[in-house]
Amino acid sequence: MNNDKTLHSEINKVITLLKAKKSIIAFTGAGISTESGIPDFRGPQGVWKKYRPIELSEVLQDPESRALYWQRKIDMYPQMKNAVPNKGHLALFELYKKNFLQYVITQNIDGLHQRAGMPDDRVIELHGSNTYIACLDCRKRYEWEDILPLFEKQSTSPKCDECGGWLKPATISFGQAILEYETNEAERIASAADAIIVIGSSLQVYPAAGIPVTTKMNGGSVVIINMEPTGQDEIADCLLHGPAGDILQAIAEGVDERAILKKKREF
Ligand code: APR
Ligand code: ZN
Repeated sequence: MNNDKTLHSEINKVITLLKAKKSIIAFTGAGISTESGIPDFRGPQGVWKKYRPIELSEVLQDPESRALYWQRKIDMYPQMKNAVPNKGHLALFELYKKNFLQYVITQNIDGLHQRAGMPDDRVIELHGSNTYIACLDCRKRYEWEDILPLFEKQSTSPKCDECGGWLKPATISFGQAILEYETNEAERIASAADAIIVIGSSLQVYPAAGIPVTTKMNGGSVVIINMEPTGQDEIADCLLHGPAGDILQAIAEGVDERAILKKKREF
């Protein structure tokens, strides 16, 4: 962790860097939501320290794994449902309003960037969303409130009333195909960005973790904000090891609103 003095000087370096950039994006991981009470996956209290991930193939083929998968999702649902955006999410929205941020590419499934005010079309959810349920076959959408009561009545997992397919929260599980459109869109935007602020990710899960490298390889600057060292600290132009909320708030407060700039490279 940087000490306060170095953190403060790195925050000033980030502010100076952002003022010289025109197409700035953010890339977020679970670490931006821990201050909203949602655990991350690989930090000291991470979910994967307690549970092992359940692959999609297990959910489809093994009734026990399917029941365990749903039990975990139901246990964690209140925490997600009651979570509110923290100062890190709000600071990113502040940067967007001040024209110092154009897109948020997120690995998170909690919908907190949108609830902090980011427009839907400015948030790319690479790993889907836990805020609703979808049919694995026809993608028909269902709401949690309509599905939860089914578990009180029956023990087996719910099926789609349209096509009979299995239902699951609209997230991308291990072993599930990535979201093509979102992944391509994120790559396109990352290659056009001249700066990317990477927040709260261990940068270990690909293809998502390749996004900051895409910006770097296309001549953009990389800012990494994380409690712990990440797999890509060596590509950072600014590296801040500390709490995302405070750091992002200081950055957002350090810039004044600017006119929308004619961008060198359109997104
Ligand atoms: N401020 C800054 N960093 C934080 C904070 C915080 N308040 N809280 C946690 N962190 C850091 C942790 O130290 C950790 O390095 O955030 C990082 C989160 O890393 P992961 O738990 O690996 O989460 P993430 O990178 O988003 O995981 C990627 O893996 O399991 C899959 O699909 C899941 O989207 C997830 C993907
Ligand atoms: Zn269906």
